[in-house]
Amino acid sequence: MARSMKDADCIAFLQWALPRLDMRWAGFRKVRRQVCRRIARRMTELGLDRYDQYRAILHANPDEWPVLDAACRVTISRFYRDKNVFDRLGRDILPNLAVRARRDKRPVRCWSAGCASGEEAYTLAILWDRAIATAHPTVALEIVATDTDPHMIERAKNTCYPPGSLKDLPAGWLEEEFTASGYTFCVDPRHRGRVTFLLQDIREQTPPGRFDLVLCRNLVFTYFDASLQNKVLDAITNQLHPDGYLVTGAHERLPPSKHDFGSLDRCAKILQYRGEPKRRACSDHRAGGRADPDALGPGQTTERGYS
Ligand SMILES: C[S@@+](CC[C@H](N)C(=O)[O-])C[C@H]1O[C@@H](n2cnc3c(N)ncnc32)[C@H](O)[C@@H]1O
Repeated sequence: MARSMKDADCIAFLQWALPRLDMRWAGFRKVRRQVCRRIARRMTELGLDRYDQYRAILHANPDEWPVLDAACRVTISRFYRDKNVFDRLGRDILPNLAVRARRDKRPVRCWSAGCASGEEAYTLAILWDRAIATAHPTVALEIVATDTDPHMIERAKNTCYPPGSLKDLPAGWLEEEFTASGYTFCVDPRHRGRVTFLLQDIREQTPPGRFDLVLCRNLVFTYFDASLQNKVLDAITNQLHPDGYLVTGAHERLPPSKHDFGSLDRCAKILQYRGEPKRRACSDHRAGGRADPDALGPGQTTERGYS
């Protein structure tokens, strides 16, 4: 019965519930059907057929909120999602990071935040092995991939994917980097060792250590509300090396914040952290988080004081 509930009722319910989970309706508008189906399934489990009944349960039982929170996870991903991003990473960003890491005698470290079934993390690993590893044999690449959904982490560790997850792969990758297994294709074992998967909620936890590159795409800056976006952006920024890179989703932008990120590639949504929080002059009320052509390097002074 719950399955036949109207889209409009689900929209009204989400518009009520999402702000209570520190999420924003606008991010869910296009993908709501997946979420509405899950909520309908949950209501059926509880023997409910109206959203007002489910609201009453949520009012009465705080333990139901995490169940709803889990139903609101959108888990769409695929390998090489957004060609611009991985083309640019392979062309110069990863090679530059390799040079820097070799100079500093340390590994290149990347974090895939909200990694779904590992598509993004393994794409990075394959890209490195195909384009960078031979030129920099002494530099290690460590990828930490985190997700709050245990099913996603399990699938990521399984490393085998249906054809739909692989449709954006560049020519040659499928044949050279995957092995067919029934209906699925499995990532070649030599790439798997580069990735460590952690079950983590980005609202509460970040992986240990500093990162050169953080991919945080199609999660925080789409689904979370402004205040939670800022909290998570602070946490991500704390984990970035000076001059480290942050990649957001193709349709995302950072919230106004105190952090100084410059836009390195507008199409690929690759941002570079400029090392220090920007201190604004009293007259500067513009939103932060945008490329600022006049920004100076950390420690440089102007007549207005520190940049
Ligand atoms: C839409 S997918 C994006 C996957 C990948 N980043 C991409 O762009 O292709 C969002 C992922 O974030 C995960 N997620 C949702 N809420 C999370 C949270 N609070 N902490 C960590 N991961 C979360 C979901 O389980 C899902 O796998």
